[in-house]
Amino acid sequence: MLDIETIRNLTPGCQDKCFLNSAGASLMPGFISDEIISYLKQENQVGGYKAADNAKSLNASFYHEVAKLIGAKPRNIAFAHSATDAYTKALMSVRFDRGDVIVTTEDDYASNWIQFISLTKQFGVEVKTIGTDKSGDLDISHAEKLISSPGVKLVAITHVPTNSGLIQNVVSVGLLCEKHDIPYLVDACQSVGQLDVDVTQIKCDFLSATGRKFLRGPRGTGFLYVSDKMLDGRIYPYLLEAKGAVWTERDDFQLEEGAVRFENWERSYALQAGLTSAVSYANGLGIENIMARNAGLKKYFLEQLRSIAGVRILDRGSSTCNIITLIKEGTSREKMEALLSNANIFYSVSTLEWGLLDFRKKGTSWAIRFSPHYFNTYDELDKVCQVIDQM
Ligand SMILES: Cc1ncc(COP(=O)(O)O)c(C=O)c1O
Repeated sequence: MLDIETIRNLTPGCQDKCFLNSAGASLMPGFISDEIISYLKQENQVGGYKAADNAKSLNASFYHEVAKLIGAKPRNIAFAHSATDAYTKALMSVRFDRGDVIVTTEDDYASNWIQFISLTKQFGVEVKTIGTDKSGDLDISHAEKLISSPGVKLVAITHVPTNSGLIQNVVSVGLLCEKHDIPYLVDACQSVGQLDVDVTQIKCDFLSATGRKFLRGPRGTGFLYVSDKMLDGRIYPYLLEAKGAVWTERDDFQLEEGAVRFENWERSYALQAGLTSAVSYANGLGIENIMARNAGLKKYFLEQLRSIAGVRILDRGSSTCNIITLIKEGTSREKMEALLSNANIFYSVSTLEWGLLDFRKKGTSWAIRFSPHYFNTYDELDKVCQVIDQM
Protein backbone atom coordinates (compact mmCIF):
# COMPACT_ATOMS: atom_id res chain seq x y z
CA MET A 1 0.00 0.00 0.00
CA LEU A 2 1.28 3.45 -0.87
CA ASP A 3 1.00 6.40 1.49
CA ILE A 4 -0.53 8.82 -0.99
CA GLU A 5 -0.58 11.79 1.39
CA THR A 6 3.17 11.56 1.98
CA ILE A 7 3.82 10.98 -1.72
CA ARG A 8 1.81 14.09 -2.60
CA ASN A 9 3.54 16.15 0.07
CA LEU A 10 6.84 15.21 -1.55
CA THR A 11 5.51 16.34 -4.96
CA PRO A 12 5.29 20.14 -5.04
CA GLY A 13 3.91 20.20 -8.60
CA CYS A 14 0.74 18.32 -7.74
CA GLN A 15 -0.49 20.76 -5.08
CA ASP A 16 -2.05 23.45 -7.26
CA LYS A 17 -3.18 21.57 -10.36
CA CYS A 18 -4.57 18.35 -11.67
CA PHE A 19 -1.52 16.84 -13.33
CA LEU A 20 -2.31 13.95 -15.67
CA ASN A 21 0.67 13.94 -17.98
CA SER A 22 3.15 11.40 -16.63
CA ALA A 23 3.31 9.86 -20.12
CA GLY A 24 4.71 13.20 -21.31
CA ALA A 25 7.04 14.32 -18.56
CA SER A 26 5.90 13.56 -15.02
CA LEU A 27 6.32 15.57 -11.82
CA MET A 28 9.60 15.00 -10.02
CA PRO A 29 9.49 14.65 -6.26
CA GLY A 30 10.93 17.84 -4.73
CA PHE A 31 13.85 16.03 -3.12
CA ILE A 32 15.05 14.96 -6.59
CA SER A 33 15.12 18.48 -8.00
CA ASP A 34 16.86 19.58 -4.76
CA GLU A 35 19.51 16.89 -5.27
CA ILE A 36 20.10 17.97 -8.86
CA ILE A 37 20.48 21.59 -7.81
CA SER A 38 22.88 20.70 -4.99
CA TYR A 39 24.97 18.63 -7.44
CA LEU A 40 25.13 21.61 -9.79
CA LYS A 41 26.18 23.83 -6.88
CA GLN A 42 29.02 21.37 -6.18
CA GLU A 43 30.08 21.71 -9.82
CA ASN A 44 29.97 25.45 -9.33
CA GLN A 45 32.42 25.16 -6.43
CA VAL A 46 34.91 22.56 -7.60
CA GLY A 47 34.28 22.16 -11.34
CA GLY A 48 32.46 19.34 -13.07
CA TYR A 49 35.33 16.85 -13.10
CA LYS A 50 36.11 17.08 -9.39
CA ALA A 51 32.40 16.97 -8.56
CA ALA A 52 32.09 13.71 -10.56
CA ASP A 53 35.15 12.34 -8.73
CA ASN A 54 33.60 13.21 -5.38
CA ALA A 55 30.36 11.51 -6.41
CA LYS A 56 31.88 8.23 -7.65
CA SER A 57 29.81 5.97 -5.43
CA LEU A 58 26.62 7.92 -6.24
CA ASN A 59 27.39 7.55 -9.94
CA ALA A 60 27.97 3.81 -9.48
CA SER A 61 24.65 3.40 -7.68
CA PHE A 62 22.87 4.40 -10.90
CA TYR A 63 23.74 1.01 -12.42
CA HIS A 64 22.65 -0.90 -9.31
CA GLU A 65 19.30 0.85 -8.98
CA VAL A 66 18.35 0.47 -12.66
CA ALA A 67 19.49 -3.17 -12.63
CA LYS A 68 17.30 -3.81 -9.59
CA LEU A 69 14.29 -2.17 -11.27
CA ILE A 70 14.38 -4.37 -14.37
CA GLY A 71 15.86 -7.64 -13.06
CA ALA A 72 19.32 -7.19 -14.61
CA LYS A 73 22.89 -6.88 -13.36
CA PRO A 74 24.75 -3.54 -13.17
CA ARG A 75 27.04 -4.60 -16.06
CA ASN A 76 23.98 -4.72 -18.36
CA ILE A 77 23.04 -1.06 -17.85
CA ALA A 78 24.16 2.00 -19.82
CA PHE A 79 23.21 5.61 -19.09
CA ALA A 80 21.58 7.42 -22.03
CA HIS A 81 20.39 10.96 -22.68
CA SER A 82 16.94 9.79 -23.73
CA ALA A 83 15.07 6.66 -24.72
CA THR A 84 15.77 7.38 -28.38
CA ASP A 85 19.46 7.89 -27.69
CA ALA A 86 19.49 4.41 -26.09
CA TYR A 87 17.42 2.94 -28.92
CA THR A 88 19.64 4.38 -31.63
CA LYS A 89 22.75 2.88 -29.99
CA ALA A 90 21.08 -0.52 -29.97
CA LEU A 91 20.08 -0.18 -33.64
CA MET A 92 23.63 0.91 -34.47
CA SER A 93 24.94 -2.36 -33.13
CA VAL A 94 23.09 -4.43 -35.74
CA ARG A 95 25.03 -4.69 -39.02
CA PHE A 96 22.26 -4.41 -41.61
CA ASP A 97 22.64 -5.58 -45.21
CA ARG A 98 20.34 -5.16 -48.19
CA GLY A 99 17.30 -7.42 -47.86
CA ASP A 100 17.58 -7.85 -44.09
CA VAL A 101 14.24 -7.73 -42.32
CA ILE A 102 13.19 -5.83 -39.19
CA VAL A 103 10.03 -7.26 -37.60
CA THR A 104 8.05 -4.66 -35.68
CA THR A 105 4.47 -3.54 -35.03
CA GLU A 106 2.12 -0.83 -36.25
CA ASP A 107 2.12 0.55 -32.70
CA ASP A 108 5.83 1.23 -32.50
CA TYR A 109 7.04 4.72 -31.66
CA ALA A 110 7.35 7.38 -34.36
CA SER A 111 11.12 7.93 -33.98
CA ASN A 112 11.69 4.17 -34.13
CA TRP A 113 9.70 3.98 -37.35
CA ILE A 114 11.59 6.95 -38.77
CA GLN A 115 14.84 5.11 -38.02
CA PHE A 116 13.53 1.91 -39.66
CA ILE A 117 12.49 3.89 -42.74
CA SER A 118 15.89 5.53 -42.84
CA LEU A 119 17.49 2.07 -42.71
CA THR A 120 15.31 0.99 -45.64
CA LYS A 121 16.33 4.08 -47.61
CA GLN A 122 20.03 3.75 -46.80
CA PHE A 123 20.64 0.02 -46.60
CA GLY A 124 17.66 -1.59 -48.34
CA VAL A 125 16.32 -3.11 -45.13
CA GLU A 126 12.73 -4.36 -45.23
CA VAL A 127 10.24 -3.66 -42.43
CA LYS A 128 7.50 -6.19 -41.66
CA THR A 129 4.74 -5.73 -39.11
CA ILE A 130 3.13 -8.34 -36.90
CA GLY A 131 -0.62 -8.42 -37.39
CA THR A 132 -3.13 -7.99 -34.59
CA ASP A 133 -6.37 -9.67 -33.64
CA LYS A 134 -9.68 -7.83 -33.42
CA SER A 135 -8.93 -6.49 -29.95
CA GLY A 136 -5.60 -5.00 -31.07
CA ASP A 137 -3.38 -7.64 -29.42
CA LEU A 138 -0.41 -8.98 -31.35
CA ASP A 139 -1.19 -12.12 -33.33
CA ILE A 140 1.49 -14.40 -31.89
CA SER A 141 1.14 -17.09 -34.56
CA HIS A 142 1.72 -14.40 -37.21
CA ALA A 143 4.69 -13.17 -35.16
CA GLU A 144 6.16 -16.68 -35.23
CA LYS A 145 5.61 -16.93 -38.98
CA LEU A 146 7.50 -13.67 -39.53
CA ILE A 147 10.26 -14.25 -36.98
CA SER A 148 11.03 -17.73 -38.30
CA SER A 149 11.29 -16.49 -41.92
CA PRO A 150 14.70 -16.13 -43.56
CA GLY A 151 16.47 -12.75 -43.42
CA VAL A 152 15.15 -11.49 -40.08
CA LYS A 153 17.96 -9.49 -38.47
CA LEU A 154 16.08 -7.80 -35.64
CA VAL A 155 12.74 -7.88 -33.84
CA ALA A 156 11.84 -4.46 -32.39
CA ILE A 157 8.70 -3.97 -30.31
CA THR A 158 7.38 -1.01 -28.36
CA HIS A 159 5.98 -2.29 -25.06
CA VAL A 160 3.47 0.58 -24.63
CA PRO A 161 2.96 3.08 -27.45
CA THR A 162 3.01 6.82 -26.92
CA ASN A 163 -0.51 7.38 -28.19
CA SER A 164 -2.52 4.66 -26.46
CA GLY A 165 -2.70 2.49 -23.37
CA LEU A 166 -2.17 -0.75 -25.29
CA ILE A 167 0.29 -3.15 -23.64
CA GLN A 168 1.98 -5.24 -26.31
CA ASN A 169 2.82 -8.86 -25.53
CA VAL A 170 6.59 -8.47 -25.35
CA VAL A 171 6.98 -11.68 -23.32
CA SER A 172 5.51 -14.00 -25.97
CA VAL A 173 7.52 -12.27 -28.69
CA GLY A 174 10.64 -12.68 -26.52
CA LEU A 175 10.09 -16.43 -26.33
CA LEU A 176 9.92 -16.56 -30.13
CA CYS A 177 13.10 -14.51 -30.49
CA GLU A 178 14.88 -16.84 -28.09
CA LYS A 179 13.59 -19.91 -29.95
CA HIS A 180 14.72 -18.58 -33.34
CA ASP A 181 17.84 -16.85 -32.00
CA ILE A 182 16.99 -13.37 -33.31
CA PRO A 183 18.20 -10.20 -31.53
CA TYR A 184 15.31 -8.50 -29.74
CA LEU A 185 14.98 -4.78 -28.97
CA VAL A 186 12.19 -3.52 -26.69
CA ASP A 187 11.18 0.12 -26.31
CA ALA A 188 10.04 0.32 -22.69
CA CYS A 189 9.89 4.12 -22.59
CA GLN A 190 6.24 4.27 -21.51
CA SER A 191 6.24 1.12 -19.40
CA VAL A 192 9.13 1.50 -16.93
CA GLY A 193 7.87 3.08 -13.75
CA GLN A 194 4.24 2.05 -14.29
CA LEU A 195 4.54 -1.67 -15.14
CA ASP A 196 6.72 -4.53 -14.00
CA VAL A 197 9.42 -4.55 -16.67
CA ASP A 198 11.57 -7.63 -16.06
CA VAL A 199 14.19 -8.45 -18.66
CA THR A 200 14.46 -12.04 -17.43
CA GLN A 201 10.83 -12.53 -18.48
CA ILE A 202 10.93 -10.42 -21.63
CA LYS A 203 14.16 -12.14 -22.72
CA CYS A 204 15.22 -9.12 -24.76
CA ASP A 205 18.75 -8.28 -25.88
CA PHE A 206 18.21 -4.54 -25.67
CA LEU A 207 15.68 -2.44 -23.76
CA SER A 208 15.49 1.33 -23.91
CA ALA A 209 13.78 3.70 -21.49
CA THR A 210 13.56 7.32 -20.47
CA GLY A 211 13.78 8.95 -17.04
CA ARG A 212 11.18 11.67 -17.28
CA LYS A 213 7.92 9.75 -17.72
CA PHE A 214 6.46 7.20 -15.29
CA LEU A 215 9.80 6.98 -13.46
CA ARG A 216 9.40 10.65 -12.49
CA GLY A 217 13.04 11.49 -13.14
CA PRO A 218 14.52 14.54 -14.87
CA ARG A 219 14.43 15.29 -18.59
CA GLY A 220 17.62 14.50 -20.51
CA THR A 221 18.03 11.05 -18.97
CA GLY A 222 17.40 7.46 -19.99
CA PHE A 223 19.02 4.07 -20.02
CA LEU A 224 19.75 1.07 -22.17
CA TYR A 225 19.80 -2.55 -21.04
CA VAL A 226 22.10 -4.87 -23.02
CA SER A 227 21.95 -8.64 -22.46
CA ASP A 228 24.96 -10.76 -21.42
CA LYS A 229 24.63 -12.52 -24.74
CA MET A 230 25.22 -9.30 -26.66
CA LEU A 231 27.98 -8.14 -24.31
CA ASP A 232 29.81 -11.47 -24.38
CA GLY A 233 29.38 -11.58 -28.17
CA ARG A 234 31.34 -8.29 -28.29
CA ILE A 235 28.41 -6.44 -29.84
CA TYR A 236 28.78 -2.65 -29.83
CA PRO A 237 27.38 0.37 -31.69
CA TYR A 238 29.41 0.91 -34.85
CA LEU A 239 29.94 4.52 -33.83
CA LEU A 240 31.18 4.43 -30.26
CA GLU A 241 33.34 6.79 -28.28
CA ALA A 242 35.98 6.98 -25.57
CA LYS A 243 33.58 5.89 -22.83
CA GLY A 244 32.90 2.66 -24.73
CA ALA A 245 36.45 1.72 -25.62
CA VAL A 246 40.07 2.58 -24.83
CA TRP A 247 42.23 3.75 -27.75
CA THR A 248 45.17 1.35 -27.61
CA GLU A 249 46.85 1.39 -31.05
CA ARG A 250 46.79 3.49 -34.19
CA ASP A 251 44.30 1.01 -35.70
CA ASP A 252 42.74 -0.56 -32.66
CA PHE A 253 40.79 -0.04 -29.47
CA GLN A 254 39.87 -2.18 -26.51
CA LEU A 255 36.15 -2.51 -25.91
CA GLU A 256 34.80 -1.84 -22.42
CA GLU A 257 33.56 -4.97 -20.71
CA GLY A 258 29.98 -3.97 -19.83
CA ALA A 259 27.12 -2.02 -21.35
CA VAL A 260 29.02 1.22 -20.69
CA ARG A 261 30.42 0.57 -24.16
CA PHE A 262 27.06 2.02 -25.36
CA GLU A 263 27.47 5.24 -23.36
CA ASN A 264 28.58 8.72 -24.30
CA TRP A 265 31.54 10.03 -22.34
CA GLU A 266 29.93 13.38 -21.66
CA ARG A 267 26.68 13.67 -19.73
CA SER A 268 25.11 15.69 -16.95
CA TYR A 269 26.08 13.84 -13.77
CA ALA A 270 23.60 16.04 -11.93
CA LEU A 271 20.79 14.65 -14.08
CA GLN A 272 22.16 11.12 -13.81
CA ALA A 273 22.05 11.53 -10.01
CA GLY A 274 18.44 12.71 -10.39
CA LEU A 275 17.54 9.64 -12.39
CA THR A 276 19.27 7.41 -9.83
CA SER A 277 17.13 8.95 -7.11
CA ALA A 278 13.98 8.53 -9.15
CA VAL A 279 14.68 4.85 -9.83
CA SER A 280 15.65 4.26 -6.21
CA TYR A 281 12.38 5.93 -5.14
CA ALA A 282 10.36 3.69 -7.49
CA ASN A 283 12.24 0.63 -6.18
CA GLY A 284 11.49 1.73 -2.62
CA LEU A 285 7.77 2.27 -3.26
CA GLY A 286 7.65 -1.11 -4.99
CA ILE A 287 6.51 -1.53 -8.57
CA GLU A 288 3.78 -3.96 -7.45
CA ASN A 289 2.35 -1.24 -5.15
CA ILE A 290 2.54 1.33 -7.95
CA MET A 291 0.77 -1.07 -10.30
CA ALA A 292 -1.97 -1.82 -7.78
CA ARG A 293 -2.64 1.89 -7.16
CA ASN A 294 -2.55 2.67 -10.88
CA ALA A 295 -4.91 -0.19 -11.73
CA GLY A 296 -7.46 1.24 -9.26
CA LEU A 297 -7.15 4.75 -10.70
CA LYS A 298 -7.45 3.51 -14.26
CA LYS A 299 -10.49 1.33 -13.59
CA TYR A 300 -12.32 4.14 -11.82
CA PHE A 301 -11.41 6.75 -14.44
CA LEU A 302 -12.51 4.54 -17.34
CA GLU A 303 -15.81 3.71 -15.64
CA GLN A 304 -16.56 7.41 -15.12
CA LEU A 305 -15.44 8.42 -18.61
CA ARG A 306 -17.48 5.67 -20.27
CA SER A 307 -20.61 6.91 -18.53
CA ILE A 308 -20.30 10.34 -20.20
CA ALA A 309 -22.31 10.67 -23.41
CA GLY A 310 -20.16 11.08 -26.50
CA VAL A 311 -16.86 10.02 -24.96
CA ARG A 312 -15.02 7.57 -27.19
CA ILE A 313 -12.13 5.78 -25.51
CA LEU A 314 -9.61 4.93 -28.22
CA ASP A 315 -7.33 2.49 -26.41
CA ARG A 316 -7.38 -1.02 -27.79
CA GLY A 317 -6.00 -4.31 -26.49
CA SER A 318 -6.99 -6.89 -23.87
CA SER A 319 -4.38 -5.45 -21.56
CA THR A 320 -4.07 -1.70 -21.08
CA CYS A 321 -2.18 0.63 -18.76
CA ASN A 322 -2.41 4.18 -17.44
CA ILE A 323 -2.40 5.97 -20.76
CA ILE A 324 -5.98 6.81 -21.62
CA THR A 325 -6.81 8.43 -24.94
CA LEU A 326 -10.18 9.77 -25.96
CA ILE A 327 -12.20 12.14 -28.04
CA LYS A 328 -15.67 13.47 -27.36
CA GLU A 329 -18.01 13.20 -30.32
CA GLY A 330 -19.13 16.65 -31.46
CA THR A 331 -16.51 18.53 -29.40
CA SER A 332 -13.54 20.02 -31.22
CA ARG A 333 -9.96 19.60 -30.09
CA GLU A 334 -9.73 23.37 -29.55
CA LYS A 335 -12.78 23.40 -27.30
CA MET A 336 -11.61 20.39 -25.28
CA GLU A 337 -8.18 21.91 -24.84
CA ALA A 338 -9.54 25.29 -23.80
CA LEU A 339 -11.90 23.83 -21.20
CA LEU A 340 -9.33 21.44 -19.74
CA SER A 341 -6.72 24.17 -19.54
CA ASN A 342 -9.17 26.61 -17.95
CA ALA A 343 -9.82 24.00 -15.28
CA ASN A 344 -6.07 23.72 -14.61
CA ILE A 345 -5.95 20.15 -15.87
CA PHE A 346 -2.62 19.07 -17.37
CA TYR A 347 -2.75 16.52 -20.19
CA SER A 348 -1.27 15.94 -23.66
CA VAL A 349 -2.71 15.80 -27.13
CA SER A 350 -1.52 12.86 -29.21
CA THR A 351 -1.51 13.71 -32.89
CA LEU A 352 -1.42 11.70 -36.10
CA GLU A 353 2.32 11.89 -36.72
CA TRP A 354 3.05 10.21 -33.37
CA GLY A 355 0.87 7.20 -34.05
CA LEU A 356 0.33 7.31 -37.79
CA LEU A 357 -0.74 3.73 -38.46
CA ASP A 358 -2.81 3.35 -35.28
CA PHE A 359 -4.62 6.68 -35.63
CA ARG A 360 -5.40 5.99 -39.28
CA LYS A 361 -7.07 2.74 -38.23
CA LYS A 362 -8.98 4.57 -35.52
CA GLY A 363 -10.06 7.25 -37.99
CA THR A 364 -8.78 10.20 -35.97
CA SER A 365 -5.91 12.65 -36.27
CA TRP A 366 -5.75 13.52 -32.57
CA ALA A 367 -6.75 12.36 -29.11
CA ILE A 368 -6.66 13.84 -25.64
CA ARG A 369 -4.18 11.77 -23.62
CA PHE A 370 -4.47 11.45 -19.83
CA SER A 371 -1.88 9.49 -17.90
CA PRO A 372 -2.85 9.22 -14.24
CA HIS A 373 -0.04 7.99 -12.01
CA TYR A 374 -0.04 6.82 -8.41
CA PHE A 375 0.25 10.35 -6.93
CA ASN A 376 -3.07 11.35 -8.52
CA THR A 377 -6.29 11.15 -6.53
CA TYR A 378 -9.79 9.91 -7.24
CA ASP A 379 -11.06 13.47 -6.61
CA GLU A 380 -8.86 14.73 -9.42
CA LEU A 381 -10.32 12.13 -11.77
CA ASP A 382 -13.84 13.21 -10.76
CA LYS A 383 -12.93 16.80 -11.59
CA VAL A 384 -11.70 15.85 -15.07
CA CYS A 385 -14.88 13.87 -15.72
CA GLN A 386 -17.05 16.80 -14.64
CA VAL A 387 -15.25 19.10 -17.05
CA ILE A 388 -15.60 16.63 -19.92
CA ASP A 389 -19.24 15.99 -19.09
CA GLN A 390 -20.06 19.68 -19.24
CA MET A 391 -18.37 20.24 -22.62
C1 LIG B 1 6.85 4.72 -26.67
C2 LIG B 1 7.92 5.76 -26.71
N1 LIG B 1 9.14 5.43 -27.12
C3 LIG B 1 10.14 6.32 -27.18
C4 LIG B 1 9.94 7.62 -26.83
C5 LIG B 1 11.06 8.59 -26.96
O1 LIG B 1 11.56 8.95 -25.72
P1 LIG B 1 12.69 10.08 -25.66
O2 LIG B 1 12.00 11.36 -26.01
O3 LIG B 1 13.18 10.01 -24.25
O4 LIG B 1 13.71 9.74 -26.66
C6 LIG B 1 8.67 8.03 -26.39
C7 LIG B 1 8.43 9.43 -26.02
O5 LIG B 1 7.33 9.89 -25.86
C8 LIG B 1 7.64 7.07 -26.32
O6 LIG B 1 6.42 7.40 -25.91
